[in-house]
Amino acid sequence: MLEVDDLVVRYGAATALDGVSLRIEQREMVALVGPNGAGKSTLLNTLSGILRPAAGRMRVEGRLAQVPEGRQLFPDLTVEDNLRLGAWRSGDRDPGRVYRLFPGLMRLRRHHAGTLSGGEQQMVAVGRALMSDPDILAVDELSLGLAPLVVADLVRHLRMLNEERGMAILLVEQNARLAFDICGRAYIIEAGRVVASGSCAELANSPEVQRAYLGGSTDEYEEYDESEESEETTR
Ligand SMILES: Nc1ncnc2c1ncn2[C@@H]1O[C@H](COP(=O)(O)OP(=O)(O)OP(=O)(O)O)[C@@H](O)[C@H]1O
Ligand SMILES: [Mg+2]
Repeated sequence: MLEVDDLVVRYGAATALDGVSLRIEQREMVALVGPNGAGKSTLLNTLSGILRPAAGRMRVEGRLAQVPEGRQLFPDLTVEDNLRLGAWRSGDRDPGRVYRLFPGLMRLRRHHAGTLSGGEQQMVAVGRALMSDPDILAVDELSLGLAPLVVADLVRHLRMLNEERGMAILLVEQNARLAFDICGRAYIIEAGRVVASGSCAELANSPEVQRAYLGGSTDEYEEYDESEESEETTR
């Protein structure tokens, strides 16, 4: 579905990606994990064609759509207009499909995106990406700033897209535990290089990965608990 070989991306003199290789097969859910500044968003922006690589090769089979970091909605446009803006590559501007997936957005369709909660905005951002009917969905920071219950709901939708529509998903996620629970394989990227990759179960049991990304626990990693509640707000 997606093949990236030895990708190099620079911002002026600074090298943000230094020979990154990665693969996603059909129907796979793959996580991309790494610290701040590792180059995760740079990779997604390069896959989306926003950034141009200095070297390397990439091949995308079908259409790739990105849910950008920070959601990047137009706050003064309605939910529906934000969704329509995602359809420019497919020509089909009917948001009906997205409302069927996220029935909650139907009720909010005339609201300005800027007035929505964080979780609702993330739904709009995912919905907007789906408007182009992608074969691969790349999500940059799904859970950032959202309460666990809201995240669990978004995860349920991503799983549905993956299982029922066969959509491949590349998930950039700060919460490695969550990423490992959702995805089959993961790549760990640090300072512009892939430092580890493999099945999530394998990675989750590696002492280095545990120390750096799973809070140092040497226990078997726990399943992400969808029933976990939190007092945090989603705004
Ligand atoms: N527009 C830009 N101009 C110059 N340098 C940039 C630009 N965007 C990112 N960088 C640099 O490139 C490197 C990778 O940044 P990137 O945003 O891809 O990291 P990230 O892994 O997504 O981090 P985070 O987890 O904080 O989102 C960082 O050192 C960053 O400072
Ligand atoms: Mg980023």
